[in-house]
Amino acid sequence: MVLARRSFLAEDHYLPLAKQVATLLTEVLGQVREPINVYDAGCGEGYYLAKIKQQLNLAGLSINASASDISKPAIQKAAKKHPDIAYAVASSFNLPVQNTSQDALIQVFAPSSAAEILRILKPQGWWLSVDPAPDHLFALKQQVYDTPQKHQLDNTVPEGFSLVSQTRLSFTMHLTRLEQRQNLLMMTPFYWTISAEKKQLLLDNLNLVNTDFDIKLMQKKPE
Ligand SMILES: C[S@@+](CC[C@H](N)C(=O)[O-])C[C@H]1O[C@@H](n2cnc3c(N)ncnc32)[C@H](O)[C@@H]1O
Repeated sequence: MVLARRSFLAEDHYLPLAKQVATLLTEVLGQVREPINVYDAGCGEGYYLAKIKQQLNLAGLSINASASDISKPAIQKAAKKHPDIAYAVASSFNLPVQNTSQDALIQVFAPSSAAEILRILKPQGWWLSVDPAPDHLFALKQQVYDTPQKHQLDNTVPEGFSLVSQTRLSFTMHLTRLEQRQNLLMMTPFYWTISAEKKQLLLDNLNLVNTDFDIKLMQKKPE
């Protein structure tokens, strides 16, 4: 899964998402006194934070970037690829970070603990979460399940935070090569459970796939 995700992300199929997250952060972090500390909880192979750091740097913001994930192989790959970012193998439910030390935390398709995020963010710090929205990879699900279910949007805002914005981002990916379709499939849990027959069907036909992301920007309430 880690290797498939790394190859898929390296082709920038999800670049519009990284750009949108970076743009949102550039707007709010422009007001923050430097150096700015940005953390990625459940960073996987580090794709998003590296792209976001690049865009923030281009906007003239100097960033101390750190990240963690519970998967050691993912962190090993991230650390090798992005030597300018500090990485740790750690659970997002027990982040290896001091209290009130971070200006922003991003969490992309990964589990999180609101209490931990509240603990590590500075007062009025920013929490940017990305989760699947209803139509995410629905073309794929339709071929896997007889009655595919859409993702449900989670509109709850954890205690201690206020919701600043909630945006949907959708785009279609054109997966013209077999390797691209295979990587996408291997990134999902489906690959490991479906029959060989269904797998082949997906590998042959999954040329156009829709993404759908729910992007929430929350701010820690002042103490
Ligand atoms: C779908 S991947 C997303 C990775 C990365 N954010 C991205 O979008 O490329 C989910 C990640 O969450 C990590 N993860 C799962 N449970 C975790 C936990 N309790 N603490 C930290 N990371 C966790 C997995 O190892 C995996 O890298």
